[in-house]
Amino acid sequence: MDDSTRNAAAAAARVKQDPESASTETSESFVAFMNEPAEKGGTATVGQEKDLTTSAKALDRWFTERQKNLGAPRLLEVPNEALVSNGGPLQITGNITIVNEDGSVQYANHLTLCRCGNSGSKPNCDGQHLEREFLNPGKISEASEIPASQRPSKITISCIKDGPITFRGRLRLHNQFGQECVKMRGSLCRCGHSTSKPFCDGSHEKVGFRTGR
Ligand code: FES
Repeated sequence: MDDSTRNAAAAAARVKQDPESASTETSESFVAFMNEPAEKGGTATVGQEKDLTTSAKALDRWFTERQKNLGAPRLLEVPNEALVSNGGPLQITGNITIVNEDGSVQYANHLTLCRCGNSGSKPNCDGQHLEREFLNPGKISEASEIPASQRPSKITISCIKDGPITFRGRLRLHNQFGQECVKMRGSLCRCGHSTSKPFCDGSHEKVGFRTGR
């Protein structure tokens, strides 16, 4: 274990388990982590104005370290959101539990998921949408089923073999055109062939989509 991991582990161990105060403590300890000098594991640079930007990489590392040391992930004060990018992947931010095709479970705060069907690193994007000229603009035509909320919550994403990615938990999908859709569950296309993108319409079966695992 390197110094940064050890420091984060010590900080995590100091956090009380009182469920009433869990959200506040989580938020405060995360801010403290982000403010640590870079050589101690945070994102700020010594001698310069501290950069408080919460990069996806730092979010993931913090979340992983908390998970290791407390046995279970704790909520970050962020809602679950998915940006359906124009011609590119699905970028999800939130308190995410991922169930892989082999049944293994991981946790993350930021995922970049393939939706063109060509990634060699499924379910993650590896940039193949550029090579294959995936042109879907990411329009969202379905209506919300529930109101949007800024409250943090958990979401579980399951990778279905030779099929879509399903989710359970509040998720706000949005795009660069200002369209949005909030749902509690659904199936998201990752074969690239659905006519209802970003949602699955069953086309993966017709095209013989294989996830290769
Ligand atoms: S995964 Fe693309 S249509 Fe189902």
